[in-house]
Amino acid sequence: MKGIILAGGRATRLRPLTKITSKQLLPVYNKPMIYYPIQTLARAGIKDILIIVAPEYSGQFLNLLGSGNELGVNLSYEVQEEPRGLPDAFIVGENFIGKDDVALILGDNIFDHNFAESITSFKSGARIFAKQVPDPERSGVVEFDQNNKVTSIVEKPEHPKSDYAIVGFYIYDNRVVEYAKSLKPSARNELEIVDLHNKYLEKGELDVNIIEGMWEDAGTIDSLLRVNNLIAEKVKQGEQI
Ligand code: DAU
Repeated sequence: MKGIILAGGRATRLRPLTKITSKQLLPVYNKPMIYYPIQTLARAGIKDILIIVAPEYSGQFLNLLGSGNELGVNLSYEVQEEPRGLPDAFIVGENFIGKDDVALILGDNIFDHNFAESITSFKSGARIFAKQVPDPERSGVVEFDQNNKVTSIVEKPEHPKSDYAIVGFYIYDNRVVEYAKSLKPSARNELEIVDLHNKYLEKGELDVNIIEGMWEDAGTIDSLLRVNNLIAEKVKQGEQI
């Protein structure tokens, strides 16, 4: 299984911080944000990692991370010229993926969960991850049955049918490249991850694993502050994260 970290985008919600660097290079307590998704993949046993970056800051990622040797991973890089949507990761990353299965993590999602078991047990189709939250309308929302088979997924619904938010970590078999290429841009002119998941859902090949523990999308100033404080606490208590 290979890993992709999607770390592009414009991060306008974090201006003026992101006028001079990428969101995923901002500090989260004592490390740049991008270290956390790298460590999440490494902890899950994924060492071959592609980082997809926006053109403006590609040099900064390379200066910081280089080959990945210091972090015990093998890093490759691709530039995404425009934020064309999350499934674009599989089009930009086609050569890197080759014939393998792939895990995608969003570069601003911070976890302390270990995804290793979900990766070793993955056979085919697609697997998404969900966490029970008080404010599901801010995220993708999933409904599922007793066997963890997904029955519906909706992106940021006004009236969520469950309180399980879809987090920014996903596993796919190799068909994801072909499915991503077949998607049409939505009204906001992006390829939508919900449309990609519906391709698998239509075939009954989408399942969900529930996670507990810390999950933060550090994409707003308040969540960035919250995650800084959470990590500071964990580090001071001697936790490895
Ligand atoms: O954080 C989890 C949520 O992430 C999920 O619950 C949603 O279902 C999923 O759509 C996504 O929602 P966001 O509103 O956070 O997506 P956003 O468009 O902000 O993109 C997430 C990150 O991916 C962002 O940090 C920048 C990066 N990105 C995004 C796009 C659209 C790219 O690098 N390239 C892109 O083309």
